[in-house]
Amino acid sequence: MARIEAGRADERILVRLMGVTYGAADALLFELERPDGSPLPGAKPGAHIDLHLPIGLIRQYSLLTPLATATSYVIAVKREADGRGGSQWLHDQARVGMTFTISAPRNAFPLNERAAATLLLAGGIGITPIYAMFERLCDLGREVRLIYWCRSESHALFHKQLSGRPGVTLHYRDEPGRKSRPSIADALSSASLETEIYCCGPDRMVAELEANVGSLPPALIHVERFKGNAGEPSAGAFTVKLARSGIELSVQSGETILNTLIAAGIDAPYSCEQGICGACETIVKAGRPLHQDAVRSPEEHDRRQTMMICCSGSRSETLVLDL
Ligand code: FES
Repeated sequence: MARIEAGRADERILVRLMGVTYGAADALLFELERPDGSPLPGAKPGAHIDLHLPIGLIRQYSLLTPLATATSYVIAVKREADGRGGSQWLHDQARVGMTFTISAPRNAFPLNERAAATLLLAGGIGITPIYAMFERLCDLGREVRLIYWCRSESHALFHKQLSGRPGVTLHYRDEPGRKSRPSIADALSSASLETEIYCCGPDRMVAELEANVGSLPPALIHVERFKGNAGEPSAGAFTVKLARSGIELSVQSGETILNTLIAAGIDAPYSCEQGICGACETIVKAGRPLHQDAVRSPEEHDRRQTMMICCSGSRSETLVLDL
């Protein structure tokens, strides 16, 4: 039986904003602690938390585990001028001393710390989970390369920490006189069939990676996206059976399993509702899901026998879920 590593999205932790510091142009670092200073749950590189904002938004942020302590988390937030409002609120309205609710850490982008070699690819604010992975692998003495594409040196988070480090290549798009940036294909050319590859960045970067993986084993390619790529939730109705309770529900065409459960008064973990956070990952006991999330590949889901119920549909008439 596949084991879900994600923490439960319904775990809630009250934290206080203890400090806001400059990270890079357009990016601030937020330090969070429990009001009583007691320890927070441990987290590994790639983990993220949900941050509940007082304006009713829930946003996911990677934990900067190299900057965390036993009692504090640090997240980086890039101000997205044309985003959906969460980052702007945090940049403009959040004040030290405010309290927030967060989820326990969840890790849908876990790092294999025992890989023979690792290639880390980051674009823009996608450096946050990648930086945590890099520091961890360096601490362990593993073979690791990091390539970070960014707009300019002033926009690069951790520029000082990364510059000149062995295995690190930094590329700044706007720098005059720079030769054209290496492509993802260039970056992949050095990867062996044993290299674990982690990529976090904008959609076009992830698409470029997926178009160039060639014969590299899919199981070694790990991607974290900023946005979901979910299409229509389900084309055609199907039935969901909940194995633990025996309840059967009909999911209507264009509806999600998650919303169908909520409408029936059934509790299920969720957060982003757009297939990027992994909170709603559910074990599939029978049936053939139509995977539409951006957290895992269909092959990975098949290995884990899971699906994301916030956005994925069904290829079979019935799905039996471990709920
Ligand atoms: S709720 Fe985030 S992936 Fe489903």
